[in-house]
Amino acid sequence: MPAYHFFAVCPRTLEPILANELQTLGGQNIKVNAGGVLFQGPLSLAMSVCLNSRYASRVLLRIATRQYYDSHDIYDMAHALPWERFFDVDAKIRVDVTAHRSPLESIDFTTLRIKDGICDRFREGCGKRPSIEKAQPDVRIHAFIDERYCTFYLNLSGEPLFKRGWRIEKGEAPLKENMAAGLLALANWKADTPLLDPFCGSGTIAIEAAQIACHIAPGLNRSFAFENLRIFDMDEWREMKEDAKAQINLHAKVQIHASDISSIVVSKAQANAQRAGLQALLDDGRLSFNQCDARVVAPTAPQGLIVTNPPYGEQSNPKSATVASMMKNVADNLKKQFSGWTAWMLTSDRKLPSQMRLSESRKTVIFNGPLECRFFKFEMVKGSFRTKKETAEN
Ligand SMILES: C[S@@+](CC[C@H](N)C(=O)[O-])C[C@H]1O[C@@H](n2cnc3c(N)ncnc32)[C@H](O)[C@@H]1O
Repeated sequence: MPAYHFFAVCPRTLEPILANELQTLGGQNIKVNAGGVLFQGPLSLAMSVCLNSRYASRVLLRIATRQYYDSHDIYDMAHALPWERFFDVDAKIRVDVTAHRSPLESIDFTTLRIKDGICDRFREGCGKRPSIEKAQPDVRIHAFIDERYCTFYLNLSGEPLFKRGWRIEKGEAPLKENMAAGLLALANWKADTPLLDPFCGSGTIAIEAAQIACHIAPGLNRSFAFENLRIFDMDEWREMKEDAKAQINLHAKVQIHASDISSIVVSKAQANAQRAGLQALLDDGRLSFNQCDARVVAPTAPQGLIVTNPPYGEQSNPKSATVASMMKNVADNLKKQFSGWTAWMLTSDRKLPSQMRLSESRKTVIFNGPLECRFFKFEMVKGSFRTKKETAEN
């Protein structure tokens, strides 16, 4: 079976976590890059990554890489590639170009030349050409152009993989689903550890955690661009989805609790959890969403993990106080009631530890989209709130 070359894109900092996941899924020759991971394997592996990856944002199939000097070379390359092997002339296509230090003068013109190359090839072969569609294409082609090389990829995921299909209702500043899963992995959360998110918004962290515990594949509720490509075996795909459904275990013993000051947001989170296939856990309280102020929230077990994403200064408008003074009160509550717990908080505010009068035992720089954030770890040790730093910033 030929090994295809793939690139899985992910949020920066999550690359090693994604590399481990790809290894578990059967990827070969895995190589971590900035912003993603290269891997090889059969086409069935790419389907499995789209269905199962919690951390990837996109999966791309590399079609070809060539050296170029000018836009004629790019046209010739697009014209020479056997696109008809991959998709039908009736497919609606979209071409995106990313250039980095390229001497080419205009990206728009280059994009046009690529479209021309592809369409001319089809017209010469069968007398018809594919149509161009920006909003809802069947096939997405990406060209990455650097100083000397142009690489063509087919996007196999289509809509980004963090769009799982269950989060229709959003609160303020929602986390991307793959970022929420990444935070749980960085915090080393395991399904048998009680989990609390006291700033839950649309419930992303709690819902990702519950799906992980129940083995619900993140891509079960959506479609993928590879379904429009000729080279994928759709019988194998249907079987893969049936196998994934058979893996679901709604009896997972979990304690996952989430709350937010806004009751509107809490009902949105509940609706999202229902769409995510988690009704059974909501019914018997293994997963719950409640309206509660984080300044008075109570622990749900003697020990556990808080993984949360409190409002960032400029982003939010908590009702009665500035974020800084609110976070001081949140910390007072944690110190009073949560000894034995570990709290992980994602924020763009570097001053969070001093606002909370807490020393972090670890901090990880992580990008939430373009926003540089810190993921702080605080050990809630009784009587001593200033702990030794485990590691320097990484
Ligand atoms: C950055 S958002 C969390 C987004 C969430 N991670 C998601 O994916 O949707 C912060 C949340 O904190 C909530 N919030 C603000 N002040 C709060 C407080 N004192 N107690 C509890 N929740 C609060 C806001 O309503 C908002 O939903």
